[in-house]
Amino acid sequence: MPGLIAPHGGTLVDSIAHGPGRDALIQEAAGLPKITLSPKQSCDVEMIGVGAFSPLTGFMGSKDFASVVERMQLASGEIWPIPITLSVDAASAPKPGSRIALHAPNGTLQAVMTVQEVYPHDRAKEATVFFNKPSDDDGKHPGAEAVKKEGDTCLAGPIEVVAVCADPQGPEAFLDDRLTPAQTRAEFEKRGWKTVVAFQTRNPIHRAHEYVCKCAQEITDGLLIHPLVGETKSGDINAATRMKAIQALVGKYFNPATTMVSVLPAAMRYGGPREAILHAIVRKNYGCTHFIVGRDHAGVGSYYGTYDAQKIFDRLDLSALAIMPLKFEHTGYSKAYGGMVSGKTFPKIEGDIINLSGTAVREMLTRGERPPAEFSRPEVADVLIEAARAGTLFVP
Ligand code: ADX
Repeated sequence: MPGLIAPHGGTLVDSIAHGPGRDALIQEAAGLPKITLSPKQSCDVEMIGVGAFSPLTGFMGSKDFASVVERMQLASGEIWPIPITLSVDAASAPKPGSRIALHAPNGTLQAVMTVQEVYPHDRAKEATVFFNKPSDDDGKHPGAEAVKKEGDTCLAGPIEVVAVCADPQGPEAFLDDRLTPAQTRAEFEKRGWKTVVAFQTRNPIHRAHEYVCKCAQEITDGLLIHPLVGETKSGDINAATRMKAIQALVGKYFNPATTMVSVLPAAMRYGGPREAILHAIVRKNYGCTHFIVGRDHAGVGSYYGTYDAQKIFDRLDLSALAIMPLKFEHTGYSKAYGGMVSGKTFPKIEGDIINLSGTAVREMLTRGERPPAEFSRPEVADVLIEAARAGTLFVP
């Protein structure tokens, strides 16, 4: 693919089976031991299969696991911040060399895996990737706690994907907007975009999001708004509503010639700095050259400093990473200035910035009230209020 940024590790992985090969896998799977994936594992299967996790062709083995946790590198040397593991309970672990059928939580056959290695899952070690220091672990971090509850045995090996989207009929399939890395790359080429900035988001799109996107658009050929729609935690805003809000905003306030929207069917890990690196690598695989990292990217609670997810990029070899982080300070609407600013572009005045906490916004929406237009566009607020009225705003 001349002209576009190379995928991480050099080659875009494509583990999706087609035609007779796929038929044969489905037939074979009927006679194989079956493993039912968790929602996160199911998302990971899709990410690996479509090449979003290139150079991974399957779930990680023990060498990669240790190297990633300790050095933020795969054993082969590429930057990689978070283990991608498939764990089960020891009792149901197959033998190395066997083939197993991976089923999505809804029962759909998603992939066939060749098990190359079976090794103990050091869950405590994996959980350390979520913390700056061990004492930060208070037993409440959603990403770390999810890992601690996983199986005690990891299975490693390549996968062959039979069903990319496990639930194509579901409300969060977004089939028209679920482009694979190969498809976004083809679209960027068609549009003649040489530089493309990706915007990761898991929250309802608001004015600060819009502002950082617009700033980034000024210095790139194109913008990919790339909301994460895989597994998120209970109490987050559901993906279908977030997508509807994005469409309402983009349709009216963005230039279609320089803006694309597509979903990222990845699971959210709430891993702050390390997840920011993963998010960047994934977007590089989708063909993006730049990646927005704002305040507390992929953060949760108060586990990370406001700019930890930006500072971590300073520890990396940016020429090896290749995708460039675009770092934004905390931005918001300034009453004194009459527009969006950050501390970099307008002096700070006590009480000047219109800033609402997530909790305050949720309460307003639930009461059917629009947050101030300086915080959330009315078109977006209306989508959120409608979902709140229907009782579908939150992930159960
Ligand atoms: S995240 O978990 O995906 O990071 P969110 O959807 O809220 O959460 O943020 C999407 C991106 O916008 C992240 O890069 C985040 O750092 C950035 N961001 C969110 N709010 C602001 C803000 N007020 N100022 C600057 N950047 C922001």
